[in-house]
Parts: sequence; structure tokens; C-alpha cells
Amino acid sequence: MSDFQIPHRQRRNRKSAAIRSAIAETLVLPRHLVFPLFLLDGVNKREDISSMPGMARLSLDLLMREIEQCLKLGVSMFAIFPAVDDSLKNPVASYSYAKGNFYCNAISEIKKRFPEAVLISDVALDPYSSDGHDGFVQNGKILNDETLPMLAKMALAQAEAGIDILGPSDMMDGRVGYLRDALDENGFSDVSIMSYTAKYASGFYGPFRDALASAPKFGDKKTYQMDFANVKEARLEARLDEDEGADFLMVKPALAYLDVIKTLSESSNLPIAAYQVSGEYAMIKAAAEKGWLVEEKIVPETLVAIRRAGASIILTYFAKQFAELYSRN
Ligand code: PBG
Repeated sequence: MSDFQIPHRQRRNRKSAAIRSAIAETLVLPRHLVFPLFLLDGVNKREDISSMPGMARLSLDLLMREIEQCLKLGVSMFAIFPAVDDSLKNPVASYSYAKGNFYCNAISEIKKRFPEAVLISDVALDPYSSDGHDGFVQNGKILNDETLPMLAKMALAQAEAGIDILGPSDMMDGRVGYLRDALDENGFSDVSIMSYTAKYASGFYGPFRDALASAPKFGDKKTYQMDFANVKEARLEARLDEDEGADFLMVKPALAYLDVIKTLSESSNLPIAAYQVSGEYAMIKAAAEKGWLVEEKIVPETLVAIRRAGASIILTYFAKQFAELYSRN
């Protein structure tokens, strides 16, 4: 034992909280987070989402309060998703661009009251489509080119309402370029696009579809969302989105796709966003409720992992909770 030499002792750099935090390579701050929120039509309405404990569909007045609290905590980006009544859904998703629809109206009201908030929309047919698909359906097929003008109408209605960033989540080919053109031709060259670049056909979206009652009425989304076996394909999607004028590239889901985040963060010069989706949230909540995991430990660990992989921005249902935790520590 006595002549045994350990050339370098890494534990010296872990011996106190101060040293550990001084050399931490990755930080997550409330400003890196986007809080996704579910919007309901009406006043003073709150509907809890059973598969997403702590999350609820909120009417605008209650959503405003949520936003106000988040802004105080340093979270200033919000992705807003509409829960649309079934009676307003149809095959062409026309409610998405209907004059004065509650979603666009909410965007305007929020921007009026909180101009400093950054609002990200969802551009896809599914919340408004009676087929529950992100594109236009005919004879059981999801049509690509026929969907693009519908997405553009929706996007222009959102731009008109004052959206900061469009979030095309539909995975139709060519939609980023199509939306960029539509925006520019209509005087919205300042509106950004956060493309859902590498959005995988994932089982992790289940609770979100409960939240919006937006599950596909037939089949699955595998003809437009990516196969989870692939990463080279994500690089190709990224290159196309860059060429078409995207401002941010998103990877979704996050934790099971850290290699994809890493790959895109190395191959692209655009900022990468990652979406810690509803199923990722539900898993942590469920295990924590059972007392099998400690939420306050797991949440920062997952968020740091996602940033460590190369994401600048994280969309997460834990945004407010994390910011509260952060403000206490
Ligand atoms: C739909 C959309 C989905 C999510 C965001 N936008 C679901 C889907 O593609 O079926 C999922 C988000 C989540 O699970 O948290 N365009």
C-alpha cells in the first residue's frame, strides 16, 4: 500500500459544493426554458390533465396569471397550444385561421399585457382537424403539398395576432420554406420560425394528445414524423430547415434523443431547442408520486443532460417548477 501512487486525484475537485459549482460545465437557468401551456376558450376555466399532474388546460384569464408568475421567476418564453372543442374541428382545420378565434385572440391579449413575453405557436392541423392528423387527409392518406397552404393560413393568422415565433410541428416536407415565404410576402419578416426539425414518431406524446383530445382518428403519424431508428436523417432534416430559413432547430422528444441533440448541435450553427415532452414529464411525475424517485433531483438532472447534449433552449412542463426551485436555492 505504502508505495502505491495515484497520479491524479479527481475527487479533490469534488470536495466542496463551492468547488463543484465553480467548475460545473453545464448550467440550466430559467431563461433557457420554454413553458408549454394549454389554452381553453372561456373565462375562469381550469381543467386538470390527469396524465400530466400539475398541468391543466386554462382559460386566458388564468393563463395570464401563470405567465405573470413565470415572468417574475425568469421564464419568459411560452409555447401555447389550443384545446379546441370538437364541434369546431373539420377536415381542413379552418378554425385555425378563423377571424377572432380564441387562440389568436389570446396571443394578441398576452402580447398586449406582457410585451416582454416571447410566444411560440403550434403550426399543425391536429388540434383543429376532425381527423386528428397534422396534415390534410384524403382517402386515408396525409397529403403533403395540399397541407402547406392550410399551414400558411394558420401561420399568417398567428403572425397577424402578434406571435413572436412560429412552431411548425407538422413535419410536412417543405413547410419551413413555404411559411418563410408566406411571412415575408405579407410583411412579417420579423416573425421567427422554430422548426420541429427532428420530430420523431414517438410513444411519448400520449399525455399531450389527452390534453388536447388530438389523437389521430385512424392510423399513426409514421408517414410524416421520423423513425426513431434514425439520426443521419435528422442531419438531413436540419440542413433542409436551415436552407429553408429556420431560426431554431428542434429535437423532440429530448431525453431518449440526446444523441440527436448532440449531432445537430455539432452539425448546425443554428441554436438547438429540445422538447422534453408530455410522456417524459408523466414518467417523472408518476415515479415521484409513488415515492420511487425524488422529483427535485431528477428534474435538474434531466434538464442539465439535455443542455449538456447541446440544446440551448428546452421546452419543458417543468419550467415553472424548476424556476421556483432555482429561486429558492
Ligand atoms: C402536434 C404536437 C404534438 C406535440 C406537440 N405538437 C403531438 C403529436 O405530434 O402528436 C407533443 C408534445 C408533447 O407530447 O408534450 N402537432
